[in-house]
Amino acid sequence: MAGAMTIDDIRTIGVVGAGQMGRGIAQVLATAGWNVLLVDVTEEALEAAIRKIWEGVKKAVEKGALRGDQAGSAMALIHPLRHMERLREAQVVIEAIPEEPGMKRALFAQLGQVCAPSTVLASNTSSISIASLGMASGRPDRVVGIHFMNPVPVMRLVEVVRAVETSEYTVQLALDLVRRAGKTAVVCKDFPGFIVNRVLIPMINEAIFALEDGVASADAIDLAMVEGTNHPMGPLALADRIGLDTVLAICEVLHQDLGDPKFRPCPLLRKYVEAGWLGRKSGHGFYLYGDRPVANVT
Ligand SMILES: NC(=O)c1ccc[n+]([C@@H]2O[C@H](COP(=O)([O-])OP(=O)(O)OC[C@H]3O[C@@H](n4cnc5c(N)ncnc54)[C@H](O)[C@@H]3O)[C@@H](O)[C@H]2O)c1
Repeated sequence: MAGAMTIDDIRTIGVVGAGQMGRGIAQVLATAGWNVLLVDVTEEALEAAIRKIWEGVKKAVEKGALRGDQAGSAMALIHPLRHMERLREAQVVIEAIPEEPGMKRALFAQLGQVCAPSTVLASNTSSISIASLGMASGRPDRVVGIHFMNPVPVMRLVEVVRAVETSEYTVQLALDLVRRAGKTAVVCKDFPGFIVNRVLIPMINEAIFALEDGVASADAIDLAMVEGTNHPMGPLALADRIGLDTVLAICEVLHQDLGDPKFRPCPLLRKYVEAGWLGRKSGHGFYLYGDRPVANVT
């Protein structure tokens, strides 16, 4: 196969989008020893990303997961960039921009032009069709889903998503990359929500319906799920951590693409997102985030 690589040929990985997920992915890849080109459209996002990655690697040193010199080397491997031209140097590019289908398709069309023909293009999308991104890129055999969980440095699972046109070679390279980054890989097909969000998002949505129906307070719903089902965190606190805009976007994709009314987003979720209550990232969601989260009014 022309331009075929093995995992040992990968030196440089592009990460597009330096938000919550992109910066975590950059941290994990740089810690594993890859050179990372971290691209975002805003200077503020890049500055915040570098600051947060530094906090992340310092935390890893404190926990004994990383030596001090390794933390320094990882930081030196991350190159924040405002433009995409240098992605030509990358053997793999992972996209982590907002969960908006039109925006992602436009980006994949651009990546198809900018990147070398051999570059594998991956998306961290939670729910958008990988086939549609492959089509937009003009190289569908080299497009794959690499879906990290949040927070990336902590969560072990990564879903590797195979679309109908993704080649076996691309899936294998993605699996090797995920494993070398120290994560557990699970392969799944390109269905909306893949495995984790297909199961998780309807549960969160149902918890929001329960809150809307007045079944119980946010605190009580979360406590019930923590103590009653051994979840490490309640569904509403988890929604705040994921970002309520992201939860809504995934719910919309499940609803629309699977065409089943059981995935209908709860109106209360929509209302919060319209109000700019996006969870932890806006300081306001099902809880208020100051020094200590307290249950919000509904
Ligand atoms: N938040 C989660 O828990 C979670 C978990 C798994 C997967 N995801 C997926 O990861 C992706 C990113 O989510 P997030 O929570 O990090 O979003 P975010 O809003 O925190 O970050 C997105 C970043 O992309 C940047 N951006 C927008 N357009 C861009 C462009 N054209 N080029 C470069 N940068 C651009 C923005 O400036 C922002 O910094 C989404 O597809 C989401 O579904 C999110």
